[in-house]
Amino acid sequence: MSYVHGYSEREAQRLQDQAGTLVDLLHRGTSYPPGARVLEAGCGVGAQTVTLAARSPGAHFTAMDRDEASLAAARRAVSAAGHRNVEFLNGDLRALPFADATFDHAFACFVLEHVPGPASVLRELSRVIRPGSTLTVIEDEASDPPLTAERASLPCGWPPTESVRHGAPGCGS
Ligand SMILES: C[S@@+](CC[C@H](N)C(=O)[O-])C[C@H]1O[C@@H](n2cnc3c(N)ncnc32)[C@H](O)[C@@H]1O
Repeated sequence: MSYVHGYSEREAQRLQDQAGTLVDLLHRGTSYPPGARVLEAGCGVGAQTVTLAARSPGAHFTAMDRDEASLAAARRAVSAAGHRNVEFLNGDLRALPFADATFDHAFACFVLEHVPGPASVLRELSRVIRPGSTLTVIEDEASDPPLTAERASLPCGWPPTESVRHGAPGCGS
């Protein structure tokens, strides 16, 4: 399956530049406690992974993408940054190879807008995190087509760059 931006070196650099420019905005509210198991969905070349691993050194991350070359680049970036708390996995986010409630948290950044049928990814992410955990989804508000239906499928709507508390009555609280 094609990915709209492709997997060129230039695109890898764009992802790194984007992540670097937006690091405080994107990660301001995201840190995970020691021992937490966190799924990063659609890690690409690891542009967010490096920050996740650095900001939550005691958490254990599973970073997943379907593109092997991107995963290889992500492995190199994480290793070069000296982090040892990330494992990488090639797979399709629409059919996650994990049992229900495997993870304490999930994080996806600039991914849903690139997946045909993104609601299936949200369903899978919701399935593999345990009740009371967080699902952090960051998307470009200008995505085309807009992700209106997917927002509505979340328990409390979907404020961009906010974490929603999965399964809790007051989402985001
Ligand atoms: C725009 S990149 C974002 C990468 C990273 N999250 C970031 O912010 O730099 C989107 C990534 O989602 C991955 N992706 C898209 N659909 C996928 C799917 N169905 N399963 C796994 N990965 C997918 C692509 O391979 C690509 O690496």
